[in-house]
Amino acid sequence: MQYEVVLPAAGSGKRMGAGQNKLFLKLLEKPILIHTLEVFQQDPSCTGIWLAVKPEERSYIQEMLEQFKITKVRGLPDGGAERQHSVHSCMKGMQQVDIVLVHDAARPFITHDIIANLVQNAHEFGAAIAGVRAKDTMKKVRNGVIEETVDRDSLWMIQTPQAFQFDLIVEAEDVAEKVGFLGTDEAMLVERLGHTVHIVESNYENVKMTTQEDLIFGEAILRKRALQINE
Ligand code: C5P
Repeated sequence: MQYEVVLPAAGSGKRMGAGQNKLFLKLLEKPILIHTLEVFQQDPSCTGIWLAVKPEERSYIQEMLEQFKITKVRGLPDGGAERQHSVHSCMKGMQQVDIVLVHDAARPFITHDIIANLVQNAHEFGAAIAGVRAKDTMKKVRNGVIEETVDRDSLWMIQTPQAFQFDLIVEAEDVAEKVGFLGTDEAMLVERLGHTVHIVESNYENVKMTTQEDLIFGEAILRKRALQINE
């Protein structure tokens, strides 16, 4: 089943402390942004990529797209002050499609099987998001003191991709914009409409490149995958 993907790539990546857009940092000689784009370039079900960018980085990114032969990008609109604005900026340029996937450009290790699962669930139920079960004991803390231990079985750590039927995410974003609601992910906007959101179990390799140590994990994942291919 086909889909188009929105990749917000207009962040500043302050927590990485790289002094530049963290998506330009390299993992085994290739920019993080290109690793992510290649997943969708190589997925036959992906019919278009929308990339939200900072205006001052647009021409550099366009050069990268040419260099690495990323041909599926349909639009590179300006990103906004918050991630949600960057996603919305892409959605505004998009024509009606069946399924839209929203995925952080900073998560280069997402796999085709998880994407296909998300797309299928979104087709069936309207909205489906990737997540993994919480591994550690989870506690609620206030002012440095434990308030309660939370039942871990019901806790999931949420990632992207998040997949939606086109009309549903358009409505959710329009309503959020109208009332000035800012969520930390797109599912929150859909939840606010009272719509059910399904979860698809992802894996712990789908990490977001956020801080310096993530780059070490990232290169380890790439090396492991290269070994698996050569076995
Ligand atoms: O900062 P963080 O890694 O959580 O951002 C997630 C994704 O959203 C990144 O790919 C980043 O480039 C993007 N983003 C954006 N516009 C913003 C903030 C973040 O496109 N204003």
